[in-house]
Amino acid sequence: MALCNPSTSFSLFGTPTTQQPTATRFSRLAFCCSQKPSPSAAEDDEIGQKKRLSEQSSWEAKDSEGRDYLYRLGKEADNMNIAVGARSGVIDDLFAGNFLGRDSDIVFDYRQKVTRSFEYLQGDYYIAPVFMDKVVCHIVKNYLAQQLNTKVPLILGIWGGKGQGKSFQTELIFQAMGVEPVIMSAGELESERAGEPGKLIRERYRTASQVVQNQGKMSCLMINDIDAGLGRFGNTQMTVNNQIVVGTLMNLSDNPTRVSVGQDWRESDVANRIPIIFTGNDFSTIYAPLIRDGRMEKFYWQPKHEDIVNIVHRMYEKDGISRDEVVNIVDTFPNQALDFYGALRSRTYDRSISKWVDEIGGVQSLGDKLFKRRKSDKLPVFTPPKQTLEALLESGYSLLKEQQLIMETKLSREYMKNID
Ligand SMILES: Nc1ncnc2c1ncn2[C@@H]1O[C@H](COP(=O)(O)OP(=O)(O)OP(=O)(O)O)[C@@H](O)[C@H]1O
Ligand SMILES: [Mg+2]
Repeated sequence: MALCNPSTSFSLFGTPTTQQPTATRFSRLAFCCSQKPSPSAAEDDEIGQKKRLSEQSSWEAKDSEGRDYLYRLGKEADNMNIAVGARSGVIDDLFAGNFLGRDSDIVFDYRQKVTRSFEYLQGDYYIAPVFMDKVVCHIVKNYLAQQLNTKVPLILGIWGGKGQGKSFQTELIFQAMGVEPVIMSAGELESERAGEPGKLIRERYRTASQVVQNQGKMSCLMINDIDAGLGRFGNTQMTVNNQIVVGTLMNLSDNPTRVSVGQDWRESDVANRIPIIFTGNDFSTIYAPLIRDGRMEKFYWQPKHEDIVNIVHRMYEKDGISRDEVVNIVDTFPNQALDFYGALRSRTYDRSISKWVDEIGGVQSLGDKLFKRRKSDKLPVFTPPKQTLEALLESGYSLLKEQQLIMETKLSREYMKNID
């Protein structure tokens, strides 16, 4: 592959013979213009010559406008090719040492941290047992795949209604199991550059594989809301990126241990098998061969009344709300997602927050009080509201009212008379 091959080293005026990463190609174009430097650029260059940090460094070479490579690289807003400076033979050898492998990078660890360790999940939560079983079994099965004398699907697709705890509970389970997952969202499945998302998936998969290899921890690739990025709704078109992503995922599930990030196969392209978990709302919008049984195990998640009561009870326990009261709340607002009961509790905070704002001097001084205060200044203490069944029910009704307003008041219909 061109990126890693030292023989195709970066030369300012050479014609590209092999496929180069966009950033490199761009800089060639930019630097080509400086063959006949304008006087000011030449002056710049002279000053630049004096200050050169290193003889080998091409970073300081200027283009026709006197801008150096790093400036141009940063100016291209969509340029995500952060690894380019560390590639030996491509841009600059200064930071690409020999001792950690040719592509080593001193800040690699900070830049490439795409795994999650869930420090924000504090306190105890209730995980529905059926859900737990399914996810744990899928992960374990995949790690034992070689020993098992059966075909194991690489992907687990958890689907169901919005806000039912698919993402949240999966993260809880990861934390409980000590799995350090690599998380992607559907937003990363599209890019203006064709092929980029497919490559990203393979890179993330390999990162997860490295977690297993280097840290000795279990890992897992999780893609949230996959149908939002991959699904086809009505007459939407399938983009090239969609096709590549689907193809990549199908290929991963057929060959889970052979994953390349470049164009060529290398010895090191062998990866550990990493279980993949998708969440989504409606998998029927996804390309059918991807979700066929051999590739993806499907799990429809809809919490039962008892699951909801248990989860909500654990949520409200600290507030001294009894189980019977929880049952009362859940029965008062049936057919609501888990999300609703969380929002209900946070809504009860609203009044206390208004009171607190008044206490610190009203809305006018809010910004100063919150952000411009000195370290020694203490904010007034915020006393959380006392939760009562009545307060919770009241905020439940107000949430319900908002939901109904959305359904009933369709302003778009009024504004665009030709909508239906
Ligand atoms: N086991 C649980 N314990 C406490 N709170 C939970 C639990 N499960 C879900 N919740 C609450 O419900 C909210 C919504 O859950 P989550 O984001 O996982 O839904 P989802 O099923 O992934 O929805 P979507 O399909 O819209 O992505 C969470 O932010 C959390 O507050
Ligand atoms: Mg989700």
